[in-house]
Amino acid sequence: MEWLCPAACLGLLLPLLLLLLISRLRRCRLPGEPPLDKGLVPWLGHALEFSRDAAKFLSAMKQKHGDIFTIKAAGKFITFLLDPRSYDAVLWESRCKLDFGQYARLLMDRMFDVQLPDYDPNAEKVMLRATLQSKNLPSLTKAMFFNLQTILLSDPSKPSRQWKEGGLFHLAYSTMFRAGYLTLYGNESKNYEDASGQAQDLAHSLEVYNEFYKLDRLLMKAARSMLNAAEKKEFGSTKKNLWKLLSVRSLNHRANRSAWLESYQRHLVDLGVGEDMQTRAMLLQLWSTQSNAGPAVFWLLLFLLKHPLARAAVQGEVEGIFRTRRQTIGQMQMTSQEVLDNTPIFDSVLNETLRLTAAPFISREVLQDMPLRLASGREYILRKGDRLCLFPFISPQMDSEIYEEPEKFKYDRFLNSDGTEKTDFYKEGEKLKYYNMPWGAGINICIGKFYAVNSIKQCVFLLLSHFDLELKDPDAKIPDFDKERYGFGMLQPENDITIRYKLKDQ
Ligand code: HEM
Repeated sequence: MEWLCPAACLGLLLPLLLLLLISRLRRCRLPGEPPLDKGLVPWLGHALEFSRDAAKFLSAMKQKHGDIFTIKAAGKFITFLLDPRSYDAVLWESRCKLDFGQYARLLMDRMFDVQLPDYDPNAEKVMLRATLQSKNLPSLTKAMFFNLQTILLSDPSKPSRQWKEGGLFHLAYSTMFRAGYLTLYGNESKNYEDASGQAQDLAHSLEVYNEFYKLDRLLMKAARSMLNAAEKKEFGSTKKNLWKLLSVRSLNHRANRSAWLESYQRHLVDLGVGEDMQTRAMLLQLWSTQSNAGPAVFWLLLFLLKHPLARAAVQGEVEGIFRTRRQTIGQMQMTSQEVLDNTPIFDSVLNETLRLTAAPFISREVLQDMPLRLASGREYILRKGDRLCLFPFISPQMDSEIYEEPEKFKYDRFLNSDGTEKTDFYKEGEKLKYYNMPWGAGINICIGKFYAVNSIKQCVFLLLSHFDLELKDPDAKIPDFDKERYGFGMLQPENDITIRYKLKDQ
């Protein structure tokens, strides 16, 4: 091995030191600005720690700097605000100061190769919201119920009175994804109970799910531009396969197309978007609409399996519904909104599950230098060109000042002693407007929330009432989170958990 002489070492080190110096000199905290933490590595700043485990990194930054601070990551300065009492100042600020479209456009392009002319996320959300809520909700809920039954009960490979083993994450994600996909993008046959239509729906939805799952493994790295050459290749070919499966032409032939699909396609045509780009946008929407509910069902079922009291309470609630309606499990039709709205125990379990496992960022681009007034009365100056980010997972969701033992699952955390929903949570004696934010808030609130809640309920109730489910290893630990997913909605487990399941003897 050749050794470098001291002069050569100095020659290598000097430029590095110079870079370090320049990067530290280039930006410094001005009076009135939040604390600035640039990290030691030139340009990269804190990018590596941040993408490795954002929750751990941001919790440490909060300890060091308080509820607001600016970090540098991959050349970008991002200000994090972590006090829920101040979130309104961001959520309702005008779009000419804090814009949420710019970052969305960047991700759409990076992850899905989608570029839309005159893309206005706000107008698009307003238009699509109506197709997922109010008068369209009952037909979506009904379609989801039929499709869930197809996936869970008509698949010859699934329902059996013999014990089977499988991954709980795989079961939950594939069931919700496939039924959700059929509900929004349509079926093979108009009649949900037509056997040949069901067989084709089962095969097609499985093909879409399998391809999507491959893509999902790589999406977070794609969003951060961190794919290596081999991954880039796989990512590209998986997208192409999905574009084939979701081509506008094939979607046009499907039955039971949802109002959501009709409106979105019309919207793209109105924007003058060509067929290829329409298909790419369909894949982007597949991700927006189908990537969260499955992981939510996984965590919820896992918590029920690990907490027998919670499971008994939920099971009792479901059985109570049948009893009052004089129905047997076979006759169960979980499609009436009145029934779905009358499950306070399940609602508390769902809120608690999402509190522990939903971790979206709420991001804005700062378009002009501007003051930001926090609930404490203190004002900070935000700099044009920076990004502003809320991370409700750290606070309110995991904040020990708001929740006792925030890391623990307590199924009745969101229940009052009289069985009604608990909504009063406090920080430093102040009642909070935002105490749990899995669905985002303000302009960023999930437009599919009501449909998602109905679907999750239907899936869990169908599973609990038709199947015996148990952990293969009752002592199995709740898996850690896949930490690269912080910021992108529902978290996923680092590894699956094996369960045993069989059809109930009825
Ligand atoms: C547990 C399940 C779900 C959770 C936790 C969830 C959460 C969220 C969050 C936090 C956002 C805001 C993203 C942002 O603006 O930054 C969002 C947006 C959205 N959600 Fe959901 N969601 C769920 C299920 C669903 C379902 C089932 C649908 C299906 C219709 C849906 C449709 C959408 C759409 C269309 C958007 C807008 C995306 C965009 O801005 O482009 N969500 N969701």
